[in-house]
Amino acid sequence: MKNQVKIFDTTLRDGEQVPGCKLDTKSKLILAEKIDVLGVDIIEAGFPISSPGDFKSVVEISKIIKSASVCALSRANEKDIDVAAESLKHAKKPRIHTGIGTSEIHIKHKFNSNKDSIIDLAKRAVTHAKKYVEDVEFYAEDAGRTENDFLAKVCEEVIKSGATVLNIPDTTGYCLPIEYGEKIKYLVDNVSGIENVTISCHCHNDLGLATANSIYGVLNGARQVECTVNGIGERAGNTSLEEVVMILRQHSDLNLDTNINSKLLNETSQKVSELMGMPVQPNKAIVGSNAFAHSSGIHQDGVIKKRETYEIIDPIDVGVNKSSIVLTARSGRAALAYRMKEFGVNLTKKELDDVYGEFLVIADQKKEVTDTDFPSILQKKNISYG
Ligand code: KIV
Ligand code: ZN
Repeated sequence: MKNQVKIFDTTLRDGEQVPGCKLDTKSKLILAEKIDVLGVDIIEAGFPISSPGDFKSVVEISKIIKSASVCALSRANEKDIDVAAESLKHAKKPRIHTGIGTSEIHIKHKFNSNKDSIIDLAKRAVTHAKKYVEDVEFYAEDAGRTENDFLAKVCEEVIKSGATVLNIPDTTGYCLPIEYGEKIKYLVDNVSGIENVTISCHCHNDLGLATANSIYGVLNGARQVECTVNGIGERAGNTSLEEVVMILRQHSDLNLDTNINSKLLNETSQKVSELMGMPVQPNKAIVGSNAFAHSSGIHQDGVIKKRETYEIIDPIDVGVNKSSIVLTARSGRAALAYRMKEFGVNLTKKELDDVYGEFLVIADQKKEVTDTDFPSILQKKNISYG
């Protein structure tokens, strides 16, 4: 089995569906270029039939993207697929992503249909997309809640029709990691021809399990992960790109890796946040502002002695200059001495003891003590600086 896990970025499609995150074509182009340079394998540029603006964005993105495949979403009908194909005509490596809901609840309530008709529509959609492009990805929407035997049947049929990638979305974020992993394994073991296609994980975060589910999918044979920068997406979001990349990189024993240049993760995250007007939560793994900040005395003392005591990732590897030692009322002498040294003042042990008491008075009044507080602390204790 191949060890490379492809990264399918859907920031500009599933991510952009978030209320308030709508991007104009210019912003989409800026992000598409950044995401391409980051090293993703596929960029899902939009859902072209959904609006003229989205169509235009996919056309323009197709013209500028140098490395990644450019993908356009469609439902399983000819008109959607025709429009998707038209929007991709300038792409160097075009992919059409088509599909249909396969769970009982989707078949009954969304389509008022039955299993045989769904298989028929799925096959016809893939066959139609194949007239335009070689690379056709099929999504079985709500696969997370689809019975495995029916899902396997759909997968087998669309492979016969020419699908090159099988997307198994946990659309509602329902599955447990073990369940999602078993679903992928079931397909690997029961779908004939599956060895010739790529299995893709597309997980939503309704229970906070999107990343875990994607990793379980990969451990069970999937070789593509669909994700977004900062994990943005419908409702609670999608699998977070930076988390998947760094999990695989930190666990090198798994022998699985992506093409991502992880040193660009932080700046890409900030650009997505800025253009989408969507702040990143401070405690977000990898790219949150607190991801490499230490504020309690015990942790600070450890990190100052050896960074690895409380950090599993070197911040430089994800494009953050260095870890930060944040001064609060929970900080100890080691942290204060460290920050004072950075400020240009080497305190003796006696001076540190004197200054520490003064520091705590200010720290109890403020959330955070910063360099701007140092001059008055030092002056009070008659310590010269600068
Ligand atoms: O979550 C989902 O099922 C999707 C599909 C359209 C791929 O986004
Ligand atoms: Zn989705």
